[in-house]
Amino acid sequence: PVIRRWTGLEELGTELCRKLGIQKVMVVPGGDDDELTKRRMARAACGHLANVLRDGSVVAVTGGSTIAAVADEAGVAGLPAGIRFIAARGGTGGDVKSQANMIAAMLAAATGGEWTPLHLPETLAESSIAPLMEEPSVMEAVALYDRTDCIVHGIGDALELARRRGSDEKTLEKLAREGAAAEAFGYYLGRDGSVIHRLRTIGLNRDQADRIPHPLAVAGGKEKAAPILAYMKQAPEQTVLVTDETAAREMLRLY
Ligand code: G3H
Repeated sequence: PVIRRWTGLEELGTELCRKLGIQKVMVVPGGDDDELTKRRMARAACGHLANVLRDGSVVAVTGGSTIAAVADEAGVAGLPAGIRFIAARGGTGGDVKSQANMIAAMLAAATGGEWTPLHLPETLAESSIAPLMEEPSVMEAVALYDRTDCIVHGIGDALELARRRGSDEKTLEKLAREGAAAEAFGYYLGRDGSVIHRLRTIGLNRDQADRIPHPLAVAGGKEKAAPILAYMKQAPEQTVLVTDETAAREMLRLY
């Protein structure tokens, strides 16, 4: 028989879920962004995906080390074959495994699915956007955002993400001045969830994100508590959050 230890994590998730006003919060033990905790979050995320996805589902993914961990765990998670994965935005510098395109490709390989590439720089010049939207491969990718069943995304600290992206001084100053607290799929949000800045990019937009039936946010570690709270102020109510105990307790303390 399966013996379940009482950990209180389910109750913690239920309490947080009520406060955040989203569909579900899953809390794994541990915290502080260590690799083991990331793997636990990734496993919980994959378990959820195995429940909600079907052959033929379209799944958009963002970049970052947390979602990269989800791709690492996906091979043994029992996800259905025949899922199509797509990056929610273009590529950046830095760790190759944390690129959204790479994660989409790894998820497809691990689960016997397909992936549609979005080979664009993440940030584009204003004048580049319209001509690129005429490219057949970009059109094919962008069309998928309107029929995306699930997005798996990270949540980051706004300023840290802007620095990681090599944003210019003007943008960094604006984000600091206006109190940017969180970043998720190219949107920088204030503590009240208002949009302070958006990356000039081709990728999944907020209207499309709001219509996705199964948004899954995965983020943990104490320093992610404030960014997660800010993001959840405007998150679609069908959002499911996978987090860790440290972040969950810190969120309740800050709430
Ligand atoms: O979009 C959010 C960030 O990409 C999160 O990155 O998972 O490496 O903390 P991380």
